[in-house]
Amino acid sequence: LLALAAWRRLRGPPEGGGRTPPRALPGPPALPLLGGAPHLLHPAAPRHLGALARRYGPALRLRLGGGDVVVLSSVETIREAFGRRWGACAGRPPSYLAGLVSRGGQDLALGDVSPGWRRQRRATRDALVRAQRRLDAILERQAQALCQDFRRYRGAPVDVAEDFAFRTCSTICSLIFGHLMPPEAEVRDFTRCIMGLLELWGRASVRVLDLLPPLRVLPNPTLRELLRLVERRDAFVQAQLQRHEVGAQASGGGGQVPRRDPGVGLWPDPGIRGGPLGPDRLHMALVDLFIGGTETTAAALGWAVAFLLHRPEVAAGVRAQLAEEPGGHRGLLGATVSETLRLRPPAPLALPHRACTHTSIAGVPVPRNSLLIPNLFAAHHDPDKWHRPEDFLPERFLEEGPGRALVPFGCGARACLGEGLARAELLVFLGHILRNFRLEPPAPGVLPSLEVTAGTVLRCPPFRVRLIALEP
Ligand code: HEM
Repeated sequence: LLALAAWRRLRGPPEGGGRTPPRALPGPPALPLLGGAPHLLHPAAPRHLGALARRYGPALRLRLGGGDVVVLSSVETIREAFGRRWGACAGRPPSYLAGLVSRGGQDLALGDVSPGWRRQRRATRDALVRAQRRLDAILERQAQALCQDFRRYRGAPVDVAEDFAFRTCSTICSLIFGHLMPPEAEVRDFTRCIMGLLELWGRASVRVLDLLPPLRVLPNPTLRELLRLVERRDAFVQAQLQRHEVGAQASGGGGQVPRRDPGVGLWPDPGIRGGPLGPDRLHMALVDLFIGGTETTAAALGWAVAFLLHRPEVAAGVRAQLAEEPGGHRGLLGATVSETLRLRPPAPLALPHRACTHTSIAGVPVPRNSLLIPNLFAAHHDPDKWHRPEDFLPERFLEEGPGRALVPFGCGARACLGEGLARAELLVFLGHILRNFRLEPPAPGVLPSLEVTAGTVLRCPPFRVRLIALEP
């Protein structure tokens, strides 16, 4: 066979049939019936897909239900697809699950490109820009409240995952609802609802329903529980919307038509091109700000604390720098945030994209409707880009600068809308924590696991920390 292959190569293309078929992206062989699904549902999918990329290259192909899934694992291929070819790669794939949780596909994050989606994205982005004016004051208040919560633990070993999620959720509440903030107990309850929702959404028993449609006919208790939480989520958002309308009337809106106070919350500007958003688009935009912004930012804070327990000298270095320059967010604190987002990007596989037109990546054709998965985790662990990629070395960002190799928020037309907010939160919250507390393990030598697991949001495995209050 080898001799035959060598002879064919020497002979060149057959006479009369000189066209070579287009190259296809390489990838592992598809399994009968299951195709590439086991790779996508792997319990440590970001790492597993990264290992496949080392074997088959940074743009690899899996087969799924007769279509192509293209996994992109280097910053070059990710920037090529979603930056340079953003128009061709900005779609979202049709999803049975997304339809169930987003009022029939009216979602900003999971919705496909359409005129309604474009207006929803523009309105949400503009509203976040408008809210920027109030951000510093909100973050300062929330960070102080977080430290207050931590002081109440009096240095006992605690798991702070829920505290972080509650404060990131409260920050978004405060941005959106302004002076009509819901009571704290309601926000705490809603935070738990979002945490539960994302946990169930990431489970293989739910995600498999998008990948293998025949399984949808079977009873699925996890899906049932997920839909119950979706109802709770929607009830919370609806209650706030109503309260805001009533509140706006009480504070002077009046009249027949409920008026909202556009200066306070995130209400899309009625002057926006194409008119104000419909009720479902508005509802889902608000939901997305909570879903997109609560657990992701909280997970990054959790990882930062876990890494700092492993390297207490970095925490001490940040504290010393902040003592010299209290408002200084660049330096080692900024580097610590960047290195945390590099090593454990909270959305390691971002969200799946769809090729809206036939396109190409790395010179290889990608058919229309292919599913595109950016593996941000693998790109952040690329040994060609990062020296000692597995190690937590914030110092690297002081020497090399973050550069364009860091893409925790994705890029292009579907890039994260909350990047500015998330970065500001991480700097202010972590800065306050390190200024006010020394981080200690629950017992000498008991350090958090840094293991990477599955899930839509990459969370640190549960751990406990002792927050020792420092003298002011
Ligand atoms: C989308 C990361 C915080 C709102 C995304 C995407 C990533 C991401 C990777 C998908 C990009 C893509 O499809 O290629 C993160 C990280 C965060 C964070 C790492 C925190 C550390 C936030 C916050 C908000 C937010 C605070 C808002 C309050 C959104 C929205 C989308 C999104 C609305 C959907 C954009 C679209 O589909 O057009 N985020 N995010 N995120 N994020 Fe974030």
